[in-house]
Amino acid sequence: MDSILVRGGAELNGVIPIAGAKNACLALMPATLLSDEPLTLTNAPRLSDIKTMTQLLQSLGAEVTSLQDGKVLAMSSHDLSNLTADYDIVRKMRASFLVLGPMLARAGRAVVSLPGGCAIGARPVDLHLKAMEALGATLELRDGYVYAEAKGGLKGAVFDFPLVSVGATENALMAATLAKGTTELRNAAREPEIVDLARCLRKMGARIEGEGTSTITIEGVDRLTGTTHPVVTDRIELGTYMLAPAICGGEVEFLGGRIDLVGAFCEKLDAAGISVSETERGLKVKRKNGRVNAVDVITAPFPGFPTDLQAQMMALLCTAEGVSVLEERIFENRFMHAPELIRMGAKIDVHGGQATVTGVEKLRGARVMATDLRASVSLILAALAAEGETVVSRVYHLDRGYERVEEKLGACGASIERVSS
Ligand code: EPZ
Repeated sequence: MDSILVRGGAELNGVIPIAGAKNACLALMPATLLSDEPLTLTNAPRLSDIKTMTQLLQSLGAEVTSLQDGKVLAMSSHDLSNLTADYDIVRKMRASFLVLGPMLARAGRAVVSLPGGCAIGARPVDLHLKAMEALGATLELRDGYVYAEAKGGLKGAVFDFPLVSVGATENALMAATLAKGTTELRNAAREPEIVDLARCLRKMGARIEGEGTSTITIEGVDRLTGTTHPVVTDRIELGTYMLAPAICGGEVEFLGGRIDLVGAFCEKLDAAGISVSETERGLKVKRKNGRVNAVDVITAPFPGFPTDLQAQMMALLCTAEGVSVLEERIFENRFMHAPELIRMGAKIDVHGGQATVTGVEKLRGARVMATDLRASVSLILAALAAEGETVVSRVYHLDRGYERVEEKLGACGASIERVSS
């Protein structure tokens, strides 16, 4: 297993290109199952999760060809030879569950493994299943698999999500595009990745209104065509790297950065004393003056503060002036980065879904361990300004969501290298 070695203390100056969004791409790829015509995605991120989704789609009989060093994904599911999404792939990545809706809509049948547990929380899929049943599917849970059937096809329905779920909204949205009649999804998720999926589906001939709001209306059609679609910028990668100059000092421009993707996050950066300005090529970030100010954070569905930036924000607040309180309201176990940051000298008290961070002058390098995707990158961020050397182990977590992190940060002056064990 690889590790990342960081020698802290350098200011960061330069330019970081932001890739296409992992979480948009992982929803866009299953959309190929909805049509027998080719779907091509451009601006795709080069990540291990994308490779996992590629393997899954290929196991179902779809053709997926990676072009231009992985930035283009040419897909076609003309013949779906297999309607079973196997446990061995689904257990590696929960987003695999997003093939359920498209397979049901296109083929009237699907067998998908339940995803199993996850480090940051139980993450059940009951809302996905309830939405499929609302659209007329019959489901049977057996031996760890969901056996789903929609004899005569799915039927449009009104479905009110009891709580906001990104994945369940995406599954239902894709399924509804080929359902007979009108579907109304209420209390739907509003994330930019959902807006991007809806825009792609519309280019494939789907009739969708309201994406980005809490109510999405879909008029079912008989079939969808192919299209070519650019994956939207990754707002979580963007927010993550914006914290690097905030933590280290210096000034960095983020190519492709869009302020509308990180609104709530930028409000917190401003309160912390970080300046964010729009440029012709994206966003520029630098610290307004010395030490950052403590700020309180509560995670919420978009347009609130993203749970996927909570760990990274904590890394900034570890050396802020004052006490910050972070409340994690989306997942039940998303503070696993705290004990690792404490090894670096941070002062953090975690009680249930609340972490209280008392800022210290400086963190110190240490050997730490990545536990999940966003926790791993928060340790890298903390290490950039820490005194001495930090070694982050188990960085396979990192490679799921960040392409070439050592290249992107190294190009701005960070002393960071990958060490293969
Ligand atoms: C998506 O996960 C993202 N993953 C997550 O990013 C992100 O943290 C999350 O949305 C919230 O924004 C992808 O898009 C691939 P949810 P998802 O359904 O869809 C509960 C990352 O780091 N819930 O919005 O699984 C669930 O337990 C990853 O890139 C149910 O109870 O998240 C959670 O508490 C991590 N039943 C809450 O809803 C369900 O059927 C929000 O989950 C579904 C969800």
